Amino acid sequence: MRLLSLLFFAFLVRFIHGETHTWYFETGWVDANPDGVFEKKMIGFNGSWPLPTLRVKKGDRINLYLINGFNDRNTTLHFHGMFQNGTGQMDGPEMVTQCPIPPGETYLYNFTVADQVGTFWYHSHTSGQYGDGMRGAFIIEDDDFPYDYDEEVVLTLSEHYHKNSDELTPAFLSRYNPTGAEPIPQNILFNETRNNTWKVEPNKTYLLRIVNVGRFVSQFLWMEDHEFEVVEIDGIYVEKNTTDMIYITTAQRYTALVRTKSDTSKNYAFMAAIDETMLDVIPGDLQLNGTNYIVYDDNNDKPEAVTVDSWEDILDDFYLKPLSNTTLFDEPDLTVTVDIAMDNLGNGVNYAFFNNITYTRPVVPTLLTALSAGEFATNELVYGTNTHSIVLQGGDVIDLVLNNHDPGTHPFHLHGHTFQVIERGPAFPDDEPTDWNATDHAEYPEYPMERDTVYVRPSSYAVLRFKADNPGVWFFHCHIEWHLDQGLALMFIEDPMGIQNNPEQQLTESHKNACNKAGVPLEGNAVANTNNYLDLKGENVQHKPLPTGFTARGIVALVFSCIAAFLGMAAIAFYGLADIPDVEARVTRDLNVEYEDDIADDEIITEDQPLRGSQESSRSNRSNRSGKVRI
Ligand SMILES: *[C@@H]1O[C@H](CO)[C@@H](O)[C@H](O)[C@H]1NC(C)=O
Ligand SMILES: *[C@@H]1O[C@H](CO)[C@@H](O)[C@H](O)[C@H]1NC(C)=O
Ligand SMILES: *[C@@H]1O[C@H](CO)[C@@H](O)[C@H](O)[C@H]1NC(C)=O
Ligand SMILES: *[C@@H]1O[C@H](CO)[C@@H](O)[C@H](O)[C@H]1NC(C)=O
Ligand SMILES: *[C@@H]1O[C@H](CO)[C@@H](O)[C@H](O)[C@H]1NC(C)=O
Ligand SMILES: *[C@@H]1O[C@H](CO)[C@@H](O)[C@H](O)[C@H]1NC(C)=O
Ligand SMILES: *[C@@H]1O[C@H](CO)[C@@H](O)[C@H](O)[C@H]1NC(C)=O
Ligand SMILES: *[C@@H]1O[C@H](CO)[C@@H](O)[C@H](O)[C@H]1NC(C)=O
Ligand SMILES: *[C@@H]1O[C@H](CO)[C@@H](O)[C@H](O)[C@H]1NC(C)=O
Ligand SMILES: *[C@@H]1O[C@H](CO)[C@@H](O)[C@H](O)[C@H]1NC(C)=O
Ligand SMILES: *[C@@H]1O[C@H](CO)[C@@H](O)[C@H](O)[C@H]1NC(C)=O
Ligand SMILES: *[C@@H]1O[C@H](CO)[C@@H](O)[C@H](O)[C@H]1NC(C)=O
Repeated sequence: MRLLSLLFFAFLVRFIHGETHTWYFETGWVDANPDGVFEKKMIGFNGSWPLPTLRVKKGDRINLYLINGFNDRNTTLHFHGMFQNGTGQMDGPEMVTQCPIPPGETYLYNFTVADQVGTFWYHSHTSGQYGDGMRGAFIIEDDDFPYDYDEEVVLTLSEHYHKNSDELTPAFLSRYNPTGAEPIPQNILFNETRNNTWKVEPNKTYLLRIVNVGRFVSQFLWMEDHEFEVVEIDGIYVEKNTTDMIYITTAQRYTALVRTKSDTSKNYAFMAAIDETMLDVIPGDLQLNGTNYIVYDDNNDKPEAVTVDSWEDILDDFYLKPLSNTTLFDEPDLTVTVDIAMDNLGNGVNYAFFNNITYTRPVVPTLLTALSAGEFATNELVYGTNTHSIVLQGGDVIDLVLNNHDPGTHPFHLHGHTFQVIERGPAFPDDEPTDWNATDHAEYPEYPMERDTVYVRPSSYAVLRFKADNPGVWFFHCHIEWHLDQGLALMFIEDPMGIQNNPEQQLTESHKNACNKAGVPLEGNAVANTNNYLDLKGENVQHKPLPTGFTARGIVALVFSCIAAFLGMAAIAFYGLADIPDVEARVTRDLNVEYEDDIADDEIITEDQPLRGSQESSRSNRSNRSGKVRI
């Protein structure tokens, strides 16, 4: 009897407190050849890449010690999709919820996965690093998984660059790339490789957890003669929906049941393809499709690629119904409307904007300002005018209206939450951007689809609804890393007094240590002023607009004609420029402008961004969707 009650007690403890997973991971460069055609360095943990899939159970505690093993750069880690309820400083984005971790220092990510289950991932939230390999799947298992399956398998997708961010980012954020053309990848990866073999057994149901860990392009996925039965998106179980093709943006997850054939006489193709509308230029040698293999029997031939006639047959996630039957949240207490655009500022660089503001990082991480500002924490001003901080009242329902004035697709991600997607407009690629109309909108779904990353179509809109029930500082940004680098981000300061009043939110020793070693103040407003929180003198702000009369079109014309003089037609391949050692000096001389390296490190934002040249001026010089340039 005593044994029984002891056992029961142990069970209870396990149930309530969960298990603690302790990991020590040291970052560093690893020699790799992900696509099989080019040796390069990727960012690994403990000398190994790809990074491990981390597995925990609902209710477990994570103690991940991230050791910065680089000698020349800061780092951070974000657990994508985790609510971090009460543990905002474990969320990851540098200068948002934490100080950067400097070389040689260790940061303890200590949090529980209270009530979340499903397919997630983790990645650096320091500019460029996840695109260089610092990313992996994070699975929260559920003893009460609602569907039957035999075996589980993880599949990560991404695009791949032969150059690392140290080269790509400065060339991208340069006045010599005035249209903001994103770097063109060299390949796509399937489970961090190419030509992947997935060995299956007949008559089985597999639970396939798909994560797009890429930094730029969305992908289409389809299988020869097999179907996806989608059961989860971004940690939200949904009523089963069967489809032949999935469209997955960066940072999204789809979990699907896949039933195998009853015989082993044939192997099948598993195809992935880049959404090529996202590329400005399609180099002739870029393979847009990747062929992978579902292998029943190694003795049989590998299958040929299979093609599809149209991209129209994707599952439209808008219609997926959460299994929880969660209904539409109440009418909003606050509606935040943002216009998305891309344009050049006075330094000639192409930036991305929400309502004309390009996110510019503060001197003090915003969460640290919220913790130290006392009663001023409810005043948006203390967070700086260029961090685009929006204070939310605890318990409010928020509608976030996204009006995309850019002809590209953008996958937006909100930290700390999932949101209901209550409306999403069609693409208006060839028309004027069409804004959401508050007095003339579609009827909202009774059971809206819910996830943490959603795409907004070209020149169109979407409306997201969420409850401010998680006190914290939550980044909202485009998950195309290039676009985050361009500043396509804003921040919600949710219930700041609720943050201050929670002892668990106070800075941990390892956090304070990282700040001290990085030379980042622990307190103060956006400029670290602790005497007067409303005095923002000297705050970091975006560059001034282009001088009137000197339009983006002008820059484009100048740069193009100049480049053309040197390089002729090859100039269209902007990224070719990086191979020519002194091109900047030569171009500068030719333009008779002063040469300076405008882009300081601290102007580069942390994580992800997609970038579609927005303005007319850009589009006129970039290939448009209907007429791609093939070179
Ligand atoms: C990774 O390296 C750290 C020290 O650099 C070590 O403490 C840890 O045990 C290693 N972790 C694994 C999983 O090997
Ligand atoms: C994939 O196949 C291509 C073409 O055969 C080959 O060049 C490449 O090395 C392969 N990649 C990997 C990672 O196996
Ligand atoms: C690390 O972050 C600190 C604080 O933002 C910054 O001053 C420093 O230059 C960064 N270090 C590197 C190597 O980028
Ligand atoms: C992790 O956080 C919990 C809750 O704040 C705390 O009790 C525990 O001591 C922390 N773990 C470590 C290793 O610091
Ligand atoms: C992807 O890689 C992981 C880790 O190596 C492996 O467990 C999984 O089976 C692979 N998935 C597929 C579809 O091949
Ligand atoms: C698969 O199941 C079917 C029907 O239950 C059965 O006829 C067949 O033999 C099974 N195939 C294998 C390879 O076990
Ligand atoms: C890639 O796949 C698409 C869709 O199946 C097809 O139309 C196209 O021809 C394929 N491209 C190549 C180079 O195989
Ligand atoms: C499945 O998705 C389609 C749209 O792609 C939608 O029309 C349909 O209602 C969905 N069915 C279920 C059961 O969710
Ligand atoms: C959701 O509604 C369906 C009927 O539409 C019902 O069968 C199911 O039990 C409900 N689930 C929950 C979690 O309430
Ligand atoms: C952005 O700037 C444009 C041009 O200066 C102006 O017309 C527009 O009202 C501004 N938008 C917002 C939301 O401030
Ligand atoms: C919004 O819809 C109303 C009602 O249909 C219409 O009168 C109004 O012109 C629309 N507003 C815009 C900006 O299109
Ligand atoms: C966060 O925790 C509070 C209190 O424990 C709870 O009311 C709220 O629903 C939680 N929010 C989320 C997003 O889990």
